[in-house]
Amino acid sequence: MFKRFRRLRSSAAMHDLTTQTRLSKDDLIYPLFAVFGEGVRNEIASMPNVFQLSIDELVKEARSAQSAGIKAIMLFGIPNVKDAIGSDALSDRGIIAEATKALKKAAPDLLVFTDLCFCEYTDHGHCGVLDKQGRVDNDATLENLAKQALIHAKAGSDCVCPSGMMDGMVGAIRAALDENGFENLPILSYSTKFASAYYGPFRDAAQSAPSFGDRRGYQMNPANAREAIAESLEDEAQGADMLMIKPALAYLDITRTLRDQTNLPIAVYNVSGEYAMLKAAQKLGLIDYDRALMETMIAFKRAGADMIITYHAKEVCDLLDRSGQ
Ligand code: PBG
Ligand code: ZN
Repeated sequence: MFKRFRRLRSSAAMHDLTTQTRLSKDDLIYPLFAVFGEGVRNEIASMPNVFQLSIDELVKEARSAQSAGIKAIMLFGIPNVKDAIGSDALSDRGIIAEATKALKKAAPDLLVFTDLCFCEYTDHGHCGVLDKQGRVDNDATLENLAKQALIHAKAGSDCVCPSGMMDGMVGAIRAALDENGFENLPILSYSTKFASAYYGPFRDAAQSAPSFGDRRGYQMNPANAREAIAESLEDEAQGADMLMIKPALAYLDITRTLRDQTNLPIAVYNVSGEYAMLKAAQKLGLIDYDRALMETMIAFKRAGADMIITYHAKEVCDLLDRSGQ
C-alpha cells in the first residue's frame, strides 16, 4: 500500500523534525491605541481585550508586551480634537508624538512603529485633506504626510508606516526624512491595502469611520491581484524598506505572489475584523480557539510573511511559551 506520506508523521519528534514553517515571537508586531488622559483603559466593544489607552496605561501595556517577548508595537493615536486637516497629527504635542516620546523613554529597546495617516485625526474621517469636490486631494496630502513623518521621527519613532494609500507617499516621506537628517529611519509601507469590510472594528477603536463616502477612491479593489503586486513594487521603487499586505487572511495569495517578486521583508496585517471573528467564535464556543489562532498565524508564515501585525500578539507569545517554543 502507498504509505509515503505517513512515514514522516509517525511520532512527535519526526513531526517536529520535518516542520517546514515556524512561528516565533520575533515575527510579531502588536498594535496599540493611544488617547489623552490618565488611567484610561476603554475596551473596544467589537474587539474584546483591546483598549484605547492613556499614555500611563500604554506604557504599562508596552512593558507587559515586551516582557512577553514582543519586539515591536504599531502605535495609533486618537486625538481629543479632530479637524479638517488633522492638525493633531502635525503637532509635536499631538497624541502620537507624546505617546511615542513616553514609550521610547520607558522602554527604549521596544521598537515603536508609528502609523502614519490622517483618518484618525480628521473630522471627516478620510485619510487626507479634501479638495473642493470633497475628494481626497492626493498631492496636498503628500505635503502633510511629509510633515507628519517628521513629527514621528523627532518623537523617536523606530519606523514610520504610511497607511493612507496615497500615490507617491513613500517617495515624498523618504525625501522629507532624508532632507532632515533621518536617513536611517526605515519606512514600512502599507503598500497593498484593500478597501476592506474587515477594518470595521478598528474604525470603532480609532473613531475613524469616514463621515461620508468610503475609501474605495484610494484603497484597492479586492478583486485585483495584479494591481496588488504593482502597488507594492511601486512602493519598493520609491524607497520602502518593508512592504505590507492588508488584510492578511483573505489575501494569502497576494502575500505568496509578492514573496516571489520582492526581496524586501513583508508584513501582513491581521486586521481588526479578523480578530473580532475569531474572538466571537471563541466566545460562542464554536471552535478550539487556541488551535485555530496558531493555525491562522502559521498560514501567514507559510504564505511568505516575515512579520505579523496582530492584536493576538500577547496571546500568541503565551501559547508559544506553553508549547515550549
Ligand atoms: C488607517 C488604518 C486603518 C487600519 C490601519 N491603519 C483603517 C482604515 O484604513 O480604515 C485598519 C487596521 C485594522 O482593521 O485592524 N488608515
Ligand atoms: Zn487612513
